[in-house]
Amino acid sequence: MSTTVPVMLSLLLALGPAFSQKTQDGSYSLNYYSIGMTRPKEGFPSFQATGYLNDQAFFHYDSESGKAEPLGPWRQVEGMEDWEELSKYQKARGDFFLKNLRDIMNYYKDRGNHTMQEEISCKLRNDTYCGALWTVAYDGQDYIKFDTKIPAWIPLQPEALNTKVKWETEGSVHRAKAYLEDECTQTLQKYLQHSRTLLDRQDPPSVSITSPVGPGQSRTLKCLAYNFYPRSISLYWTRGSNVVVTELQNDSLLTENGTYQSWVVVEVPSSDRGPYSCHVQHSSLAQPLVVSWNEGQESGNQ
Ligand SMILES: *[C@@H]1O[C@H](CO)[C@@H](O)[C@H](O)[C@H]1NC(C)=O
Ligand SMILES: *[C@@H]1O[C@H](CO)[C@@H](O)[C@H](O)[C@H]1NC(C)=O
Repeated sequence: MSTTVPVMLSLLLALGPAFSQKTQDGSYSLNYYSIGMTRPKEGFPSFQATGYLNDQAFFHYDSESGKAEPLGPWRQVEGMEDWEELSKYQKARGDFFLKNLRDIMNYYKDRGNHTMQEEISCKLRNDTYCGALWTVAYDGQDYIKFDTKIPAWIPLQPEALNTKVKWETEGSVHRAKAYLEDECTQTLQKYLQHSRTLLDRQDPPSVSITSPVGPGQSRTLKCLAYNFYPRSISLYWTRGSNVVVTELQNDSLLTENGTYQSWVVVEVPSSDRGPYSCHVQHSSLAQPLVVSWNEGQESGNQ
């Protein structure tokens, strides 16, 4: 087990909190992703919507259950949303969504199974509106988007000009702008009263090391960090006092419970006893976490 901290690492250690980057730059976003399809498989919903606060999915609606239900830690949050009301609202939205999809199919003279996806989002920084987005895709291709500055619907396919004309004739420009800049941001502000602590939380990583010996004379040392939040993390291996140059650590993956996992792998000769240590830096940790690999035992901090 290596206890000496090499020069470069002790420097990082001394930098401490200043080094721990906050991914949260004081901005928060509310996103809605929706998908509709004309012919879902038997028993599957024709319309689904998922709401996100920053990167955290907080509710899901589907037209089969007809219910908007909170997800993950939001199941325990009281008083943030009236889920029955939201269910009714999403049901009406789904009907309208599928009507728009059928209009678009008509513009293309399409039949059969087609899909429409929509992303709507608004963002606050320092409690002030700082941007929004509304895009629609048809069969996976960008179709039309809203520009709040002009304001106008911008067709992204020739057929989308029909949609622009129809929506703008129906007064949708004023409504979409008001929705994004006022209603969406007010909803986000309301949600933040109940969710800020969840979104600002600092979940420290658990770390485990596995070291299977592969075919030939090599061993794979894998250092896995999991259950951490927010997303940004740095992982690397050292051998003695030297940093081992490895392939880039994989991008952090969001898991079902709303936390992230990431790992870094190094291939070493199976006869090599190291000492190897995995170093983990995360905003939740006052100091980098160092977990040593000892041959013959799988190690971890939990
Ligand atoms: C229609 O397309 C969607 C999205 O590609 C797919 O999930 C669904 O199963 C399709 N429906 C049928 C009947 O194949
Ligand atoms: C947010 O507010 C703080 C304190 O009022 C200020 O220092 C900072 O510059 C603001 N950030 C932005 C992006 O406006």
